[in-house]
Amino acid sequence: MLVSLQDMLQDAQKNNYAIASINTPNQILLRAVIAAAEDTNMPVTINHAQTEESVVPIEIAVPLMLDYAKKSKAAISVHVDHGFDFDHIMKAIRLGCTSIMYDCSRFPLEKNISEVKKFVEIAHPLGIGVEAELGAMPNNMPSEVHGQETSDLSDLTVYYTKPEEAERFCEETKCDVLTISFGTVHGMYASEPNLNIDLVREINALANGVSLGMHGGSGTPFDQIQSAITAGIKKINYFTAIDTAPAPYLAKTIAEAKNPVNFSLLANQAMEVIYNKTVEILNVFKNTGL
Ligand code: 13P
Repeated sequence: MLVSLQDMLQDAQKNNYAIASINTPNQILLRAVIAAAEDTNMPVTINHAQTEESVVPIEIAVPLMLDYAKKSKAAISVHVDHGFDFDHIMKAIRLGCTSIMYDCSRFPLEKNISEVKKFVEIAHPLGIGVEAELGAMPNNMPSEVHGQETSDLSDLTVYYTKPEEAERFCEETKCDVLTISFGTVHGMYASEPNLNIDLVREINALANGVSLGMHGGSGTPFDQIQSAITAGIKKINYFTAIDTAPAPYLAKTIAEAKNPVNFSLLANQAMEVIYNKTVEILNVFKNTGL
């Protein structure tokens, strides 16, 4: 069923777990993630990122995502991940997205606040949830895509969200989720991460009821994920580990095949691997111990 992000967050706050936020730029991911949400009884936001426009345009992706969400037994929000442009997020509203990330973290604080505030004033009367970002999410995804350039990972503290800025941001924008930077990285880590859980706790105490988000979930040790949830993180973006999981299995199937390999069978194999990986992480996000 299609559920608002705001309703999901209320339940996650009450029961101290995190909502998974997973990109679904094709039907294999979409079906596997929704099946995993149903079987674990966990809410999920299924995402279309603006950077995925070259993979599948939002006009094609979102109607399909809405259809699957409405027919599902699980609580699903159809979400825009990292919307950078105002035109793009307005298009997402017209297409029926139920929650939207307006990422203005590349701008100075004043402009980030004023842009997000302007969007919240449009989105909230329509019941649409808004996520914003403050601080920066470094990338470790070798890519030519704008916004995904590989970052300098030598000192992650330079990207951290500043608590006093977060307090002001939440107070002034009234966004629903504030994604903060405290040691995670988009893509896989260069070395074992060491998340700053004290920073999450500190910002959570200043967030004025706004839920905190974490991006770059892939590769984060499960105990650190659960500590972050307990400290205040209530929405976690998790993608690379899911999206890269099928490749080794498919490579083995192809290498061992005696005859030409049927793509539909590979797709089904990929779906099973993605389903299992998603179930695993949704159980971690329940935050009921490992
Ligand atoms: P990972 O791919 O590192 O899990 O991060 C996903 C993400 O944050 C998408 O916005």
